[in-house]
Amino acid sequence: MTIDGPDQLEKLKEIGAICRDVLAAMGAAIRPGITPRELDEIGGKMLTERGAKSAPILAYNFPGHTCISVGDAVAHGIPGDVPLVEGELCNIDVSAEKDGVFADTGASFAVGKISAELQQLLDTTKAAQRKAMFAARAGQPVNVVGKVVQKEASKHGYMIIEGLNGHGVGGWIHEEPTVPNTYHPNARTKLHEGQVLTIEPFLTTQSRHYVEDADGWTLRLANGGFGAQFEHTFVVTKGAPIVVTA
Ligand code: CO
Ligand code: CO
Repeated sequence: MTIDGPDQLEKLKEIGAICRDVLAAMGAAIRPGITPRELDEIGGKMLTERGAKSAPILAYNFPGHTCISVGDAVAHGIPGDVPLVEGELCNIDVSAEKDGVFADTGASFAVGKISAELQQLLDTTKAAQRKAMFAARAGQPVNVVGKVVQKEASKHGYMIIEGLNGHGVGGWIHEEPTVPNTYHPNARTKLHEGQVLTIEPFLTTQSRHYVEDADGWTLRLANGGFGAQFEHTFVVTKGAPIVVTA
């Protein structure tokens, strides 16, 4: 969507703040022994209290209020009953709608104490997201995102999952354009002022591809290893992005 005026921007900021707060509350509850289902209940309750609806349920009839992906699962994980284990990563993705406007945010979290290697994967993915978002100014081609993400990932030899992309958002959960995390020379569509996008790089230690579980939702690393994702919704401007989920 492209922002059509101050009222719509306020609505986007409102749902952005809700998604941010839900993600933060769920992230703060992460500890060894808690189950993804328990985390999801925290998120679902908060969304209702704030007058928002889960986008995965609204748009896809997903079996959870939020997506929670653990271990070698990187996206679209169903919140289940297997308790989290010290030392692993847990990704939470929160997307929701209020007053007809959608926002989408996500982050990978440490469960208890994690290795220095996993901390570096988290730090690098977060930095790649941020740098790409600040490079995504009006007038730039959409492939500036993939260029920046690749540069950051390559600093530590990380791979980027193909086929999991940022996207337009706002009027619906997934809109045009697709915002690839790898550099596509032909993806030269120019970004414009007021455009609402997400950027969500998935960096991994050894997988470029994902495979779908038999459950029909969970996406796992095709070659194992570890993966992390960070995502924000923002409005494109000629200068710094207006980040509504931070
Ligand atoms: Co998301
Ligand atoms: Co998204």
